[in-house]
Amino acid sequence: MPHSGPNDLRLNLGGPGILVFGATGTIGGAVLRNLAERDVAVKAVVRSPERAAALGVPDVGTVVADLADPASLTAAVRDADGVFVATPASPEQVRLETALVDAVAAAPGPPHLVKLAALGYDAGPPDEIIALGANHARVVQHMQAVGVRHTVLAPSGFMANLAGSAATIRAEGVLYGSSGDGGLSWVDPADVGAVAAHVLTTPGHDGASYDVTGPEILDHDAVARRLSAALGRPVRYVDVPSQAYRQNLESVGLPPWLAAALTELQELYRAHGAEVVTDEVEKATGRRATDLDTWLAAHRDAFA
Ligand SMILES: NC(=O)c1ccc[n+]([C@@H]2O[C@H](COP(=O)([O-])OP(=O)(O)OC[C@H]3O[C@@H](n4cnc5c(N)ncnc54)[C@H](OP(=O)(O)O)[C@@H]3O)[C@@H](O)[C@H]2O)c1
Repeated sequence: MPHSGPNDLRLNLGGPGILVFGATGTIGGAVLRNLAERDVAVKAVVRSPERAAALGVPDVGTVVADLADPASLTAAVRDADGVFVATPASPEQVRLETALVDAVAAAPGPPHLVKLAALGYDAGPPDEIIALGANHARVVQHMQAVGVRHTVLAPSGFMANLAGSAATIRAEGVLYGSSGDGGLSWVDPADVGAVAAHVLTTPGHDGASYDVTGPEILDHDAVARRLSAALGRPVRYVDVPSQAYRQNLESVGLPPWLAAALTELQELYRAHGAEVVTDEVEKATGRRATDLDTWLAAHRDAFA
């Protein structure tokens, strides 16, 4: 679907502004920062007043609502101009997000809903794609069924995920994975936030789905070389067979469903099933997507 450019006229947001669900998280936080920088009226949705302390933007307005409490959603979205939602992968994800879709559909207006999904969520029927994509596909099907105005953002793997390997990189100089020489176009979460902010504040995105990626495909071996250069010490990639990878994830405390889902994702990468590069970041922001070297230079502390 065509994408309106970075210089399009802003939507006239006459209401109280945009609500960001997931605002204490990786992408919601980036969306919140980007909207605040654009001087757009924005409110962060937090599950409790105490969670406001986890927001990365000072003095931002907050609304207390919980996706597990439908009544709180009805009150939260009333009169909103736009709504962004990102929630963690979980067995509850479809239930939580469809509750929000229903609240948005019933709101006066109703507002434009921008949903974070994942690259490949639309690669086939939900029963035939990986579990992490299937949850998103089911929510998108629901958005279509109830007829809510919506846009889907489907990013590739986040560069920020690499910080989750900081402990073994530090202790052993090893980046573990189970993706062989399959690559992906790692994306900077800040770029996903910038695309979301653009979509929430410019017209022309109703019904669109944008695959949001970084600028280049890198397998884990190439990432290890980039890490070596950025950190000034050797980092090598060690490829682990699927079953051992899954057992390792469980042994460090991940719930079995998540260990299985992440292993399935690595298998998709291994099969070269996620080697997609798009220019959605450039179309939305007018600049090239952030590359991994730039991201690593800015986030060296995460590996210190
Ligand atoms: N990691 C990747 O490489 C990648 C790539 C593509 C797509 N994705 C997609 O990205 C999504 C996760 O985004 P993220 O990494 O930004 O998430 P995240 O950092 O884990 O943040 C999740 C947010 O959801 C909020 N939340 C959780 N349960 C809630 C509830 N019941 N009511 C209201 N808010 C609730 C959390 O609030 P609290 O602070 O209160 O917990 C937090 O703000 C997943 O759907 C995944 O499929 C990830």
